[in-house]
Amino acid sequence: MKKLFVISFLSVAFISCKDVINEIPQNPFQTTPYSFNYNSSLLPPPKIPSDNPLTEEGVELGRMLFYDPILSSDSSQSCSSCHNQENAFTDNNQQFSVGVKGTVGKRNSMAIFNLIWHIDGFFWDGRADILRHQAIMPIVDKTEMNETIDQVIIKLNRSSLYKDYLQKAFSESTFDEVLIGKALEQFMLSIVSADSKFDRVMLGLETFTNEEKVGQVVFNSEAIPLKEEADPNNPQNFGADCFHCHGNSLFMRREFLSNGLSDNGDKGLGSVTGNPRDDYKFKTTSLRNIEKTAPYMHDGRFKTLEEVVQFYLSDMNANSATDLSNSPNLHALKDSVYLSPDHKKALIAFLKTLTDENLLTKEKYSSPF
Ligand code: HEC
Ligand code: HEC
Repeated sequence: MKKLFVISFLSVAFISCKDVINEIPQNPFQTTPYSFNYNSSLLPPPKIPSDNPLTEEGVELGRMLFYDPILSSDSSQSCSSCHNQENAFTDNNQQFSVGVKGTVGKRNSMAIFNLIWHIDGFFWDGRADILRHQAIMPIVDKTEMNETIDQVIIKLNRSSLYKDYLQKAFSESTFDEVLIGKALEQFMLSIVSADSKFDRVMLGLETFTNEEKVGQVVFNSEAIPLKEEADPNNPQNFGADCFHCHGNSLFMRREFLSNGLSDNGDKGLGSVTGNPRDDYKFKTTSLRNIEKTAPYMHDGRFKTLEEVVQFYLSDMNANSATDLSNSPNLHALKDSVYLSPDHKKALIAFLKTLTDENLLTKEKYSSPF
């Protein structure tokens, strides 16, 4: 039996004073606390913003906004245009996202799931501190939705459907930037991925194939200098060291790091903080659902997981200006990893156990229209 994890909040809308009920029109709407359904033993406790507790109504309003092209200047694009559920909410195999009127950005779209555990900033370079601030940026970005917030507010306030949902979710009658941000934040925070084969194996409901088991050992073993007498049948002798940066149940590290990619002119975190020590550091993204989010890295430079593994094994830091001294164990990885063709295949087979079909198809996360 699965143990369900249910989080409840105080309802945000409640009527406290019976005496004034006849004078002030009573808000007929009550919000329902949002309940997450996943096994709590799989992931750490979520960090829910205390000033924006998730409610069924708030999440639903956010979902409508996420899927509605009304947020873009020419009504051609919604958030989902570049964050497609079937691709774990990334672009459909595009290296760079294409905004309204065909404008091309310079970074690869990012996955949207388990964001409730992201507490160190959003975007590849971390320029947004919290999700509700992040959510406004694509709307006004010239290479994305190219709209103004004032226009979006006018359009939403004209819609009786949206005003009805706003009333239900926040007991408010007119939209503003904060409410749009909070609704989108609620929907995005509600998206959880914890139902992959890996999770079911952890719960004892399924078992890995032999190849996947070998891949798991390779993923979780230290890169050690290859010794001549190393037993080729022991995968521990061929550690790929991925776990240092993509370890734990979220398969990410809450840090911006360099993984030794060659310089393409994008300084990542350094361009935001202005600190040269942050140059070429990027968000250490989760490897959950990685099979579905190609191409890879902030600039989508690798088309396949085979190319990614090859990079970590031999091309890392090829001509990078990056200071790798802060990157956990990267020096070891750079100098010493050798994987046989079988171990490479096994590593990729293990990565594919992180795909969560439920995330890709769940109705609660799909378009309400
Ligand atoms: C034109 C394509 C496009 C559209 C439209 C778009 N995004 Fe994005 N999104 C991207 C790209 C590209 C990135 C990475 C940008 C960067 O790091 O500079 C991104 C990053 C993000 C992230 C950061 C995830 C993380 O882990 O840090 C979130 C969240 C997000 N988008 C949500 C949204 C929302 C909400 C909307 C609609 C209001 C939206 N996006 C519209 C392309 C798009
Ligand atoms: C030193 C830390 C570090 C180690 C070790 C490391 N990674 Fe990464 N990984 C990162 C960072 C940082 C990024 C984002 C880099 C970027 O886009 O600039 C990343 C990105 C990726 C991506 C692309 C993610 C995406 O959303 O496009 C994949 C796939 C990946 N790593 C797999 C692996 C595998 C497999 C291993 C083991 C062979 C590994 N990583 C070892 C830090 C690391």
